[in-house]
Amino acid sequence: MTELAVQPSAVATRWWRDAVIYQVYVRSFADGNGDGVGDLPGVRSRLPYLAGLGVDAVWLTPFYTSPMADFGYDVADYRDVDPIFGSLADARALIEDAHALGLRIIVDVVPNHTSDRHAWFAAALAGAQASPERDRYVFRDGRGEGGELPPNDWESVFGGPAWTRVEDGQWYLHLFAPEQPDLNWDNPEVHAEFDDVLRFWLDLGVDGFRIDVAHGMVKAPGLPDVGHPGHVEMIGVAEVPFFDQEGVHEIHRAWRRILDSYEGERIGVAEAWAPSAERLARYVRPDELHQAFNFHFLKAPWDAAAFRAVIEESLLTAALVGAPSTWVLSNHDVKRHVTRYGGGERGLRRARAAALLMLALPGSAYIYQGEELGLPEVLDLPEQYLRDPQRLRDPDSGRDGCRVPLPWTAAGEPPHGFAPPGTAESWLPVPPGWRDLSVEAQARDGASMLSLYRAALKMRREHPALGDGTLIWRDSPAGTLAFSRGESFSCVANLTSEWIEVEAGPGGLLLASSGPAVSGDVVRLAPDSVTWWAGDLGDAVSRAGDV
Ligand code: GLC
Repeated sequence: MTELAVQPSAVATRWWRDAVIYQVYVRSFADGNGDGVGDLPGVRSRLPYLAGLGVDAVWLTPFYTSPMADFGYDVADYRDVDPIFGSLADARALIEDAHALGLRIIVDVVPNHTSDRHAWFAAALAGAQASPERDRYVFRDGRGEGGELPPNDWESVFGGPAWTRVEDGQWYLHLFAPEQPDLNWDNPEVHAEFDDVLRFWLDLGVDGFRIDVAHGMVKAPGLPDVGHPGHVEMIGVAEVPFFDQEGVHEIHRAWRRILDSYEGERIGVAEAWAPSAERLARYVRPDELHQAFNFHFLKAPWDAAAFRAVIEESLLTAALVGAPSTWVLSNHDVKRHVTRYGGGERGLRRARAAALLMLALPGSAYIYQGEELGLPEVLDLPEQYLRDPQRLRDPDSGRDGCRVPLPWTAAGEPPHGFAPPGTAESWLPVPPGWRDLSVEAQARDGASMLSLYRAALKMRREHPALGDGTLIWRDSPAGTLAFSRGESFSCVANLTSEWIEVEAGPGGLLLASSGPAVSGDVVRLAPDSVTWWAGDLGDAVSRAGDV
């Protein structure tokens, strides 16, 4: 990989290298028309909030025509907007408004599979076996005497076999829900179609794509068995014949050429699950995509040594290919991190700390809508609302609890400003207690999570040492982390459940703290807290003992 390394100085000014990108789950961000479901006009009306928060770009989850079997990740028409989310004109207006506010727009593209309601799949079902229509998907004969067994042993990410049988006896592959048939990327027509889809949205002005299941698309030749059950547990940790195959990189290279043919540094971001940080780095080689989500960071337990290991490995492997690291704490597929970190007061304390840690690291950071409000996972949604197809795998694996609509206003009843006044219900109910977590309530509280994010994002934007670059680890006691970023910035994290003392030394000035910090010659840092300092503290933290 070293032969592909590029000079960091040559790319240091590129916007995406240290962009803070805010993920909007369109269904749950803001409802403009009062049908209880978030939509593009809703997002558009809240763009000033996002600009004020201080992010650089907004990633919108799929808003294309879809029967919503996987809430939009089952696309029936890649070049249109689902009526529930608005119209193409709304998308255009949203992109224009965002640009006027200095925000870039990244949209999702879903190339591994279409919806089963896509015109291509209808034609495939109507077509004969071995027809060109079927060849756009992965149809195979079954095993067993009458072909009554699936063609191989692959399991769907959402549970059950990855194959469904159609009327004439053939089977089709779906690595996700049966309503999401996998495309056949050995077929040139599929390549041509997606090239065109990318161009369609680039022409409309989007600044990049988040590529769904970017490690999918190409499958091992012959579709070999894995040989044993438990495939979902292997994703991201072991080699599997349906993900992270060599051929996907050719696709990303072709897309990079398309992106580069447009003005303004349009980017590709891989949602890629690869067995190691090194395999992941291959998606962001200089002629492939620009960024890949770093799920290894998201999965790190609340432990200083674990964080340090994952940060080091991420920086090292990204640097090998000249790419920026990315940092993600939550998204629409995982339990919100306030809850993952223990929930309640402790979860919130840790989430505040994690925010300052993440935003101090070199590279680009992702914020999932509502994390700036400290929203927890909603664990007690009534059964009748739970509709995530992933629950097939195991009822507890449902992702509905991280997709509850955002609370915007402090007065009145749920859904707390998510929808226009008078809207009775949102598609998932907003808990009554979220009025206190609303944007309005937190905006007037200087100690709120929202105020912390706003201040940290402002500082990150203005401080020359933050964003792209490198870090130097400093010695610090067990359970803590300390690093400097040049001479003018240090970050100290206390991930223990005890207070610690930091000897700041002359010139050490506390810039920000996620928790209470008592200043003086010796600064005392609360349990589960992260602090930002002006100046390089060197190894000062190591001289302080636990108290
Ligand atoms: C990605 C999306 C997830 C979706 C899946 C299938 O992992 O983030 O929400 O269910 O792809 O498209």
